[in-house]
Amino acid sequence: MMNPSILMHPSKPFVSPLYSTPRTRTNVTESIAIEGRNLSYSVATRQGKTIPILRDCSLRIPSGQFWMLLGPNGCGKSTLLKILAGLLNPTIGTVHVKRPRSFVFQNPDHQVVMPTVEADVAFGLGKFNLTPDEVKSRVSKALDAVSMSKFMQRSVQTLSGGQKQRVAIAGALAEACKVLLLDELTTFLDENDQIGVIKAVRNSLNSSGDVTALWVTHRLEELEYADGAVYMEDGRVKMHGNAADIKDFIMTRQSAYIKEINS
Ligand SMILES: Nc1ncnc2c1ncn2[C@@H]1O[C@H](COP(=O)(O)OP(=O)(O)OP(=O)(O)O)[C@@H](O)[C@H]1O
Ligand SMILES: [Mg+2]
Repeated sequence: MMNPSILMHPSKPFVSPLYSTPRTRTNVTESIAIEGRNLSYSVATRQGKTIPILRDCSLRIPSGQFWMLLGPNGCGKSTLLKILAGLLNPTIGTVHVKRPRSFVFQNPDHQVVMPTVEADVAFGLGKFNLTPDEVKSRVSKALDAVSMSKFMQRSVQTLSGGQKQRVAIAGALAEACKVLLLDELTTFLDENDQIGVIKAVRNSLNSSGDVTALWVTHRLEELEYADGAVYMEDGRVKMHGNAADIKDFIMTRQSAYIKEINS
């Protein structure tokens, strides 16, 4: 049964006790890696009308955890993720996200830019003034975390979609990124690649201890890998907290919808 405490009242301002306890590794003193308070985002049309896209969204994700963000098409998931990544500014509200943070896009071909896996993961390290040995060590640790070490010398063109996603995640890890924001990475992937990418994120969180990930998905089966979840509808955060409760809630919603269609 769903815990009623995880239902957020949409019109209420952010109040932390409304947030339920995630499944694992939670204690009251842990630090928060991602926090959005009362976020709203609107766009203006050419006719001068204002279209609200996010309405009073609040969320809070503890450091070192793997959380998922779900909701129907067009409910505002990508917009919220872009605000957390600093790619968009909220119209109202405040954002706190640990840095460095990294946004990984849906299409694997938009992520990888260099000819080989090793060069691609090392690409972002130029700005750190590292010795060649330090670069090598960071690249190999990052590839290890996503189980791609044996592909180090491979041409990126020869990788599958999921392998490209894992290389993109390794690039972010090599830059010592603290927060990974991942937008529907598994949409174009087959089941094998999907599991490979999700396990890569889970592993990299487990091995680093202080990397936090927020993963947008439509796939309910992925929730089993999550420490917590956020569910959105129509620009609002409807639920926040326990992944299993959110899965039950969505499944109940879906079966009610199917029943309605059939009747
Ligand atoms: N710049 C914009 N101008 C007008 N409308 C926008 C703009 N950006 C987003 N929207 C609208 O805001 C809503 C939320 O978009 P968003 O991409 O965040 O949804 P989403 O939950 O990620 O959807 P999906 O599951 O399909 O990826 C959509 O209706 C979209 O058309
Ligand atoms: Mg989206």
